[in-house]
Amino acid sequence: MTALSPHGGVLVHRRIGPYTDESYSNNLQRVIIDDVAISDLEQMGMGAFSPLVGFMDEMDYHSVVTQMRLANGIVWPLPIALPISADQAQLITLGETVLLIDEHGTPHATMVVTSKYQVNLNHVVNHLYQTNDSAHPGVMRTLERGSVHLGGPVSVFTTTTQDHYASYLRTPQETRQLFEKKGWKTIVGFQTRNPIHRAHEYIQKCALETMDGLFIHPLVGPTKADDVPAPLRMRAYETVIEHYYPKNRVALGIFTAAMRYAGPREAILHALVRKNFGCTHFIVGRDHAGVGNYYGTYDAQKIFSLFTPEEIGISPMFFDHAFYCKECGGMATEKTCPHDEKAHVFLSGTKVRTMLKAGIVPPEEFTRRETARVLMEFYEEAVLPIASEN
Ligand code: ADX
Repeated sequence: MTALSPHGGVLVHRRIGPYTDESYSNNLQRVIIDDVAISDLEQMGMGAFSPLVGFMDEMDYHSVVTQMRLANGIVWPLPIALPISADQAQLITLGETVLLIDEHGTPHATMVVTSKYQVNLNHVVNHLYQTNDSAHPGVMRTLERGSVHLGGPVSVFTTTTQDHYASYLRTPQETRQLFEKKGWKTIVGFQTRNPIHRAHEYIQKCALETMDGLFIHPLVGPTKADDVPAPLRMRAYETVIEHYYPKNRVALGIFTAAMRYAGPREAILHALVRKNFGCTHFIVGRDHAGVGNYYGTYDAQKIFSLFTPEEIGISPMFFDHAFYCKECGGMATEKTCPHDEKAHVFLSGTKVRTMLKAGIVPPEEFTRRETARVLMEFYEEAVLPIASEN
């Protein structure tokens, strides 16, 4: 299997065109799903979650939670499950096809229910997040979504959106074609949920020094309330790419999945998904997909050693904590800088939020002035929290 093979060997396609009343019986039982399930459906529809063809059945769910593998042994670190109310679950029989709709009644998919099961959520969150603290946003969401689940293959309707950033939405098949057209053989993927800062730029460019192309793939799906809104992050990216990146070596996309804040396990998921999008390499820096102080700074790198390179099939590129060093006069990490911490400029998200709220421009050593301008404009218009510690 080459590095560019999708996870599990085959790029899944579960889209079936737009929903029409004529082609789908109104007799199907309707199941209301939340925004996380909608974004999971989107990933499965376009094959970003290959080899998954639907929401996990009981065997896969338990195997993923305890072994980080699907029941067939393929590496998969986080459950992709469909929670449902216990009352509705009782009305559904195995083998039945249900219609998955959002809270406004818009149909998103059909699903053949092959599995109905209940899980012990305390056991699950301790495995996934290494804590059952409900202050952890991933734990809280998992608990809120409930313990009864449906599993089974899905068929996803194509939907249209007017969102400006939808023009950045490409399926794995499309990004693979794009990279081929550009003649890129080595492509490094970058996951992010925060506005770009100098450390992001530094590790991207360090990677790009040895790669043909860089695929910046900000996550724009559901995040916690105090993360910076996706359109603002995209505007910052557009601006910085315009001024500081070689256009022919960078592609900007959007990753519509939900953020799970599962640190190490999510780093594996993020890597596998970028493999499906056609990347050969994937950046994992400090506290990837972490939140608060739940994970060690490099736990999301260490977890890769639990699997063989062939099982992962995309090469992780690890980076130490990066900062601006006043003595070096540039970006560095402890691997490359001999100076005392006092010379290092690094700001936490909380500190940057406080500065922006107070109308203070963050230093250029931390944020490019173009990014700062985008963020400042937003904060002048609507004073919203920028980001938590991570
Ligand atoms: S994440 O939740 O999507 O991982 P974020 O957008 O902050 O959060 O990080 C994107 C990527 O950049 C991750 O791989 C993260 O580890 C890395 N990263 C962020 N800040 C730094 C830093 N100062 N030094 C090294 N890597 C960093």
